[in-house]
This record gives sequence, structure tokens and C-alpha cells, in this order.
Amino acid sequence: MTTAHPIHESYSGLKPIRGGTVSMDSIIKHYGSFTAVDGVSLSVGRGEFVALLGPSGSGKTTLLMMIAGFEQPDSGAVCIDGVDVSRMPAHRRDVGMVFQKYALFPHMTILDNVAFPLRMRGVPAGERRLKALDALQIVGLEGMEKRLPAQLSGGQQQRVALARAIVYRPPVLLMDEPLGALDKKLRERMQIEIKHLQESLGVTVIYVTHDQEEALTMADRIAVMNRGRLEQVGTPAELYERPANPFVAGFIGETNLLDGELVAAAGQEWELRLAGGAVVRGTPAAAARHGAAVGARVRLAVRPERIELAPATPGGTGAMVAATVADVIYAGPTLIYLLRADGLPEMTVRVPVQSDAMKPARGEAVSLTWDPANALVY
Ligand SMILES: Nc1ncnc2c1ncn2[C@@H]1O[C@H](COP(=O)(O)OP(=O)(O)OP(=O)(O)O)[C@@H](O)[C@H]1O
Ligand SMILES: [Mg+2]
Repeated sequence: MTTAHPIHESYSGLKPIRGGTVSMDSIIKHYGSFTAVDGVSLSVGRGEFVALLGPSGSGKTTLLMMIAGFEQPDSGAVCIDGVDVSRMPAHRRDVGMVFQKYALFPHMTILDNVAFPLRMRGVPAGERRLKALDALQIVGLEGMEKRLPAQLSGGQQQRVALARAIVYRPPVLLMDEPLGALDKKLRERMQIEIKHLQESLGVTVIYVTHDQEEALTMADRIAVMNRGRLEQVGTPAELYERPANPFVAGFIGETNLLDGELVAAAGQEWELRLAGGAVVRGTPAAAARHGAAVGARVRLAVRPERIELAPATPGGTGAMVAATVADVIYAGPTLIYLLRADGLPEMTVRVPVQSDAMKPARGEAVSLTWDPANALVY
């Protein structure tokens, strides 16, 4: 079903691609009265891998289509390698494109599918064949060139689509949920293979996904989209450790979002009273929140793996939240605790199975505590 060796071993002799820069400047796109992309500016460096991550309908595909040239922005500009391509037709922009549905021609052989973009560019037949075979080798599909798409597995068809996108060595590769149709195991393997391929070739990649794990695994930087806007752009670690707002905190990884009121806001450790009455500590999410006044409504974001469970303390004093274990779920390496606390939404805590941490049973009363540095106040 799969090939004998991973693709990153097969292109050692290949000439690298010179990755292109892509810059988007204040791009706006309306469909009728609806704003699909609402003022996006983003610069992608040579050979960089940037993931566009966001929920369904947030404008990811629309933005990608404007980079590819299949859609025109109403205003703003797209530059590739410093050249404004906003009004240039798709076939004249040097970008490769991989879609979620492989979109192979069903009656063409694999070789002809891969060679198709070269034919469109008027490359002579002999050279087409060599380049297509080369691209098939890069994605680990040598020997399959005579087959038809229906005679390949889903993962293999997606590799064909990838080979077709890189066959003319574009400096920029755009991918729109290319692994969406594959099962989890194969998807995870392809993620690593695409990442290796991108690094070895040096091609610039803009990769659309709504799967945050995929973005975290693959991308140098992630651009989080929501309702046509960029919420935050940063490295996976920046987004995970310092989400700019509760939306990003909730979208990248899991988080517990708790409403409260500021009790004391001096220095790096703020005190707040949660909806249930517990007084806890956290860190201001932005360095300069000078406007924050005692009494202000705030939200606290704390990750499930950064909360510690402790025995219940009568009276519940001192930066702890009294809670009851509503459920315990065994999830392989971690135990997931669902906890109920007065006045608060259900909270999630993750405890490694292999740890000395407290592992209470369902129905037990516990205290929740955390290092204030791991709880961000918005
Ligand atoms: N041709 C169109 N005509 C009208 N509305 C459109 C058109 N294309 C997209 N939209 C709307 O623009 C918004 C953004 O769509 P887009 O396809 O960019 O979202 P997306 O982030 O790629 O979502 P998904 O993860 O579901 O693919 C959606 O609300 C969609 O309905
Ligand atoms: Mg889409």
C-alpha cells in the first residue's frame, strides 16, 4: 500500500528550490455584503512554512485563493518576491497548489497527471517525462507512473497531487487542507513527510488547516484567522505560551476560560475573584495593561496540564478553587479530569498517568491550584 521508503530519503540529489517571499498588505474581500477577508496583512519569508489556522468559514481558503490568483482582492495587494501580482492571472504566478480533494484527472496516468502543469507551460515531451519521473521519485512513488489515480490509495493520490505541485519547481507552494481526506495515522505521517520535503527543497509553504495539532507540528509560524481577520501570528510556542486573546488561547491547545473581577492589579501577579467567589492569581496577558483597574471584568486562561489537583482544604483559602471531580477519563498517557466548581464552567485538568500527582476518584472534593505565571489574565 505504501512505498518502500519515506520521501525525504529519495531526493538527496535534488537541486533545492529558491523559496519566494509572499507579502499580503491590507487585503479585503467581500462576497456581496459579506466580508470574507477583512484587512489581512502578513509577510512570509523565503523558505518559511506558515500555517493559516482558523475555524470553518474564517476566510482561510479565500485568502489562499487570492495568493494563487483564483480570486481577486477588493482592495490591498499580494506581492510575490517583491512583485505586485494582485492583477496577474493565476497561471502566470509561480505558485504550486495542492487542494484537499486531490483533483487528479481520473483518465490520465499518474505520469501524465504530474506532467500536466509542464504541458500547460509548453515544456517539450521528453523533458516533461524526466521532470515528472523526478517529482514522483521525490514523493516516493517511483514505479507507479503508468497507473491511473483510482489504482492508488488516498495517501498515494495525495502524493501525486504534491508531485504535480512541485514538478515545475515553484518558489511558493500553497496547500489547502491537503491531508483532510486521509485517516489519522496516514495524516500524521504525511505531515512529517511534507515538512521534510519543504525543508529539503527550501520551498516557501502557506498551508491552510483547521487542525491546530497539524499547525503546531508543521509550521514555523502560525497565523490564526477568525472572521476574516488575523487574531495573532507567531511561532507555535509563542501562540501556546502567550496567546494574544482568549480566542487564540482556546483555539491553540485546550484552555480553561474563567470569568472574574480584578481585585488587585499591581506588578506581574494580579489577583482576581472568580465568578464562584474564589480569589486566585494570574499574570497579565499583555505587558502593558495600564488601563486595568480594580473591579474590571477579566478572563483568566489556564491550560489543563498546568493546573494541579490538591486535597480539599476546608475554608478554601489561598489562591485555590474548591471543586468536585465530575468525571475521570483515561486517555492513554494522561488522565483527563472534569471538575465542577461553584459558579464556574466545567473545568478540565490533565494529569500524566505516570506521575506522583494526586489522582482522585469521581465524586472526590479537591482544590485546584496553579503557578500564577501559567494563568493569563485578559
Ligand atoms: N464564492 C463565494 N460566494 C459567497 N460567499 C463565499 C464564497 N466563498 C466563500 N464564501 C464565504 O466566505 C467565508 C469564508 O470562506 P472560506 O472558504 O475562505 O473559509 P475557510 O476558512 O476556508 O473555511 P473551511 O475551514 O470550512 O474551509 C465563508 O463564510 C463562506 O461562506
Ligand atoms: Mg477552506
